[in-house]
Amino acid sequence: MTIARIILHTVRLPQHRYSVPIAQTEPDQAGPINLMTGHPHHDLLPLDRLHMAMLAQVEQQDYASLQYGDNRGDPVLRAHIADMLNSDLDGVQASASRPISADDLMVSLGISHAGDLFARLLLKPHETVLVDELTFFCMVDIFSDLHLQVVTVPMTADGPDLDALRSLARQHKAKAFYHIASAHNPTGRSSSAAQRDALAQLAAEEGLYLLIDEVYQQLGHARAQPPGFGRYVADNPWVVVLGSLSKSFGPGLRLGWIHAAPSLLDRLSSSGLVGAMSGVSPLSTGIVSRMFEQGSVQAHLKEVNVALARREERLHRSLSSAGIEHTRPQGGYFIWAKLNLPDNPHVRLMRGRRFGQTAQAGEMSRLCFAFEREERLDQAGEAILRAMA
Ligand SMILES: Cc1ncc(COP(=O)(O)O)c(C=O)c1O
Repeated sequence: MTIARIILHTVRLPQHRYSVPIAQTEPDQAGPINLMTGHPHHDLLPLDRLHMAMLAQVEQQDYASLQYGDNRGDPVLRAHIADMLNSDLDGVQASASRPISADDLMVSLGISHAGDLFARLLLKPHETVLVDELTFFCMVDIFSDLHLQVVTVPMTADGPDLDALRSLARQHKAKAFYHIASAHNPTGRSSSAAQRDALAQLAAEEGLYLLIDEVYQQLGHARAQPPGFGRYVADNPWVVVLGSLSKSFGPGLRLGWIHAAPSLLDRLSSSGLVGAMSGVSPLSTGIVSRMFEQGSVQAHLKEVNVALARREERLHRSLSSAGIEHTRPQGGYFIWAKLNLPDNPHVRLMRGRRFGQTAQAGEMSRLCFAFEREERLDQAGEAILRAMA
C-alpha cells in the first residue's frame, strides 16, 4: 500500500470523541473502581427474559423478522411502546389530549440514531442547535459531524433558563433545542412539570423544535418522574420526543423510538437510508415484541428500577460517609459530585468538563452507579479519599 493510501485510511478522530477501550466495557474488573463507564452491569440486563422471547420468536416461525420491514418500524412493537407510554409508568396519559398510538411513533436504532436522523433531515449545515450547558457529549459530536453550530443554554435547578433560551434562539435563529429532560446526564436532575409546560409553549411561540431526550424517563427508580414530553406532541408539532431501551434493557438491542407529529415522522421515515434499510432491526423489534407479550418488559422495568435505586443509595451512603459533596439524582445512572481528581489507581470518574465548559463543571465529576458490582459501590468513598490523599 502506498504512503498516500495509508494516510487516507488513518483518519484520526478528534481527542474528545467517545470511545471506551473494550476492557472498560466489561464489569467486575480488578483495579480501580470504575464509576466512569455509563453502561449497565450484567445484573441489570434481562438475559433470561431475552432467552424466552427468542425461543418464542423462533417457535412462532416469524420469518418476517428476517425480512426487510416497515419504514416506520414494526407496527406491533410500536403498538406495545405506545401502550407503555400511555401507562402510568411515565404519567403521559395523565394530561395528554389523546392516547399515543402506533401511528405516532417510529422505531429507531436508539436515541443517537434518532438525533442524527432528525438533525440530518430537518436542519441544514451551519444552522444553530441549542443544547443544555452540560449535556450528553455524543449528541454534540453528532451535531458537529453535520456541521451544525452548537450553542449552550444556561440551566437552573428547575431546567433550562427560559429567558436565556428565548434570547439565544432569536440571536442565533436557532432551529432546535436538544434537552435531556429527565434524570439528566450528567446532573441527574429532571426539569419540573411547570418548566416543561413553559418550554413546550416557548417552542411553539418561537418555532423552535424541542428535541427531547427521554432515555432515562422510564428509570425514575420507582418514583414518579414529571410527566414525559409525549403529552404535548398531539397538540404541538414542535415537540419531538426520543426514547430508547438502551439504559433499561441493554444498548446492544439498539432499539429506540421517535414520537412526533405524523408529518415529521413521514419526513424521517422517507429518508434515503431508512428507505434502503426498510426500517430498523426487524429481528430485535420482533424479539422485544415477544418480551412485551410475555410481560417481561413490565417486569424487568420494575426490577431494574429497584436495583438502580439500591445502587444509588449505596453510592450515596459511601460518598456521604467520606464527606464528599454530591446531589442525589431523580433517576437514571449518575450522581453528580463535587470532585476533581487526577488520574489515579483507586477510582475512575468522568470529569465534569467532558459535559460542558462552565466554571462549575471544572469542579465536578459524574459518578455512574450502574456499571460496577454493587459491593464495590460501598468502597467508592474510601477509594476517592485515597485518591485525594
Ligand atoms: C442522555 C443520553 N441520551 C442518549 C444516550 C444513548 O442512547 P442510545 O443508546 O439509545 O443511542 C445516552 C447514553 O449514555 C445518554 O446518557
